Amino acid sequence: MTLNNRHLVDPNDLTLDELHQIIDLGLKMYENPKAYREICKGKILGTLFYEPSTRTRLSFESAMLRLGGTVLGFSDANTSSAKKGESIADTIRVLDDYADILVMRHPREGAPRLASEFSTVPIINGGDGGHQHPTQTLTDLITIQKYRGSIENLKVAFCGDLLFGRTVHSLLKTLSRFPNISFVLVSPPELKIPYHLRDELLQEYKVEIIETSSLDEYLPEIDILYMTRIQKERFFNEEDYIKLKDSYILNKDKLKKAKEDLLILHPLPRVNEISYDVDDDPRAKYFDQAKLGIYVRMALMALLLGVA
Ligand code: CP
Repeated sequence: MTLNNRHLVDPNDLTLDELHQIIDLGLKMYENPKAYREICKGKILGTLFYEPSTRTRLSFESAMLRLGGTVLGFSDANTSSAKKGESIADTIRVLDDYADILVMRHPREGAPRLASEFSTVPIINGGDGGHQHPTQTLTDLITIQKYRGSIENLKVAFCGDLLFGRTVHSLLKTLSRFPNISFVLVSPPELKIPYHLRDELLQEYKVEIIETSSLDEYLPEIDILYMTRIQKERFFNEEDYIKLKDSYILNKDKLKKAKEDLLILHPLPRVNEISYDVDDDPRAKYFDQAKLGIYVRMALMALLLGVA
C-alpha cells in the first residue's frame, strides 16, 4: 500500500516503514531542496486552523511553497463560516473541491477524523485538542534521526504537561513502536499521562516506564529530554494553572548533570520552562527541530499527493 491519497489523522495510521520513508525523504529534501522545488506545481494546500498556531500552519505553508504549490485557508475560525454555525462535514465537502490536500487544527478531539470521513482529498491532522499531533511527531522523529543517527536504544524523558499535551501523547505512542525505547515521565501528580494511554503503553507496547515528579534525579541517565509547556488554554481554572505553571524550569546549571550527547527537544512555543541561557548549549535542538518540521511536512505532502 502506498501513501498516495491517504489521510494522516493518528500517528498509528503509518507503519514503521512508512514513518522511515517520510523521514528519509524529509532528510533528502533538507539536504537538496532545489531538487524538489517544482514537484507540487499546480497543487493547492488548504489550511483550516480553528485554533491558534505559528509553526504548524506556517511550516505547512512554507513546505507547499517550497514544493512549487500554492496555499489558501484560514487561521481563525471566527473569520470562517464556522462562526455562522457551519458543520465540519459541510466545510470539508466544499473545501475538498478548492484544494488538493487539507491540514486541519481543531480544539475538539476527533475533528480531523470526522473531516477525513467526508473528504475526497488527503486530510492531515494539525493537532486536535489534547489528543494527537502526528506531524509534530514526524518533526520530532526526523530530529532524532538527524542528530542521533537512528531511532532506537534510547531512554527518553518527557517533562511538563503530560496530561493535556497532544505532542507528548503522539510521540509516546509512536516511539513505543521503535526498538528498545524506554520512558521517564516527569510531571506534577496532577499532570501525569492519561490512564488509558499509560495502560496502552504498558499492555500493548510493553515499554518500560518510570513515572516521577523529579527531573533532577533522572537527568544524568537520559538520552533525549522532551520539554513541554504547561498549557494554560487546557485548564478549567486559572488558579490550577498558576499553581503548576513553574513546576519545571530547565537551566544551564541543571544541565551540568546531563549526558554530553543529550538532545533537548521542545515542540514550542516555550513559555518559561527552558531558560534562555540553555539556547546556546549545543544539546539544545528545539529551533533546529522547528526547521526540520518544514522538510518532513514537504516529504509528507509529496507522498500523500503521489508526486514523490
Ligand atoms: N508545535 C506546534 O504545534 O506549534 P504551533 O502551536 O505554533 O503550531
